[in-house]
Amino acid sequence: MVIYNAKDYNDMSRKAANIISAQVIIKPDSVLGLATGSTPEGTYKQLVEWYKKGDLDFAKVKAVNLDEYKGLSKDNDQSYAYFMRKHLFDHVNIDINNTFIPNGLEEDSKKECARYNQVIKSLGGIDLQLLGIGGNGHIGFNEPGEAFEKETHCVKLTDDTIKANSRFFASLDLVPKFAYSMGIKNIMQAKSILLVASGKSKADALYKAIYGEIVPSVPASILQLHNNVTIVADDDALSIIKEKGLL
Ligand code: PGA
Repeated sequence: MVIYNAKDYNDMSRKAANIISAQVIIKPDSVLGLATGSTPEGTYKQLVEWYKKGDLDFAKVKAVNLDEYKGLSKDNDQSYAYFMRKHLFDHVNIDINNTFIPNGLEEDSKKECARYNQVIKSLGGIDLQLLGIGGNGHIGFNEPGEAFEKETHCVKLTDDTIKANSRFFASLDLVPKFAYSMGIKNIMQAKSILLVASGKSKADALYKAIYGEIVPSVPASILQLHNNVTIVADDDALSIIKEKGLL
């Protein structure tokens, strides 16, 4: 595991974008596993800037997202499909037919999870998986639990996650209670993983993920078992790790 200490959010975003752009330059037909949330927004902004300057080409890239709220259509402005278009896909030359995300409108969870697992397999695996981390240690929507969920599954979101995500919705009641998410096995099969974290609210989760026990109550702790993980985190997110003299 390699940990890069970024000064702040902007520095984290630039460093993460550098790693993703290196991946796309070295392998133009990369399969990128992508994430939503506030943390990667700056990373996508930087990638768009470099694309506009002519430094990046997404023509052959394929993108497969971690998760989607169950119940939201891809045109709902809170859906993750909408987020991806707004922050990345609408601004670069990726072929939208090469972008994949669970279908929030499919009510049959079993069917949608099986379909999405098949999508991931048909892409031949993920070259680089971008991850954020929840304050509760979740990755994707793999919430703390009693077992590591393996493949794409339908998740009942925890109260912590619903509360954290309510900042994007008009009220707490409007936050969907369920989501489709890639499982831990899907994530762990990615050839490389890039986790981004910013802010004090992530410090405890990041410390437990990197230095704690590998337990399903901290889903990100499983990453200790992956052989190619890069973490880009700012001073605040690394504050507990630094206080303990571990970095
Ligand atoms: P955030 O979410 O980037 O909006 O903090 C990260 C996550 O919950 O995975």
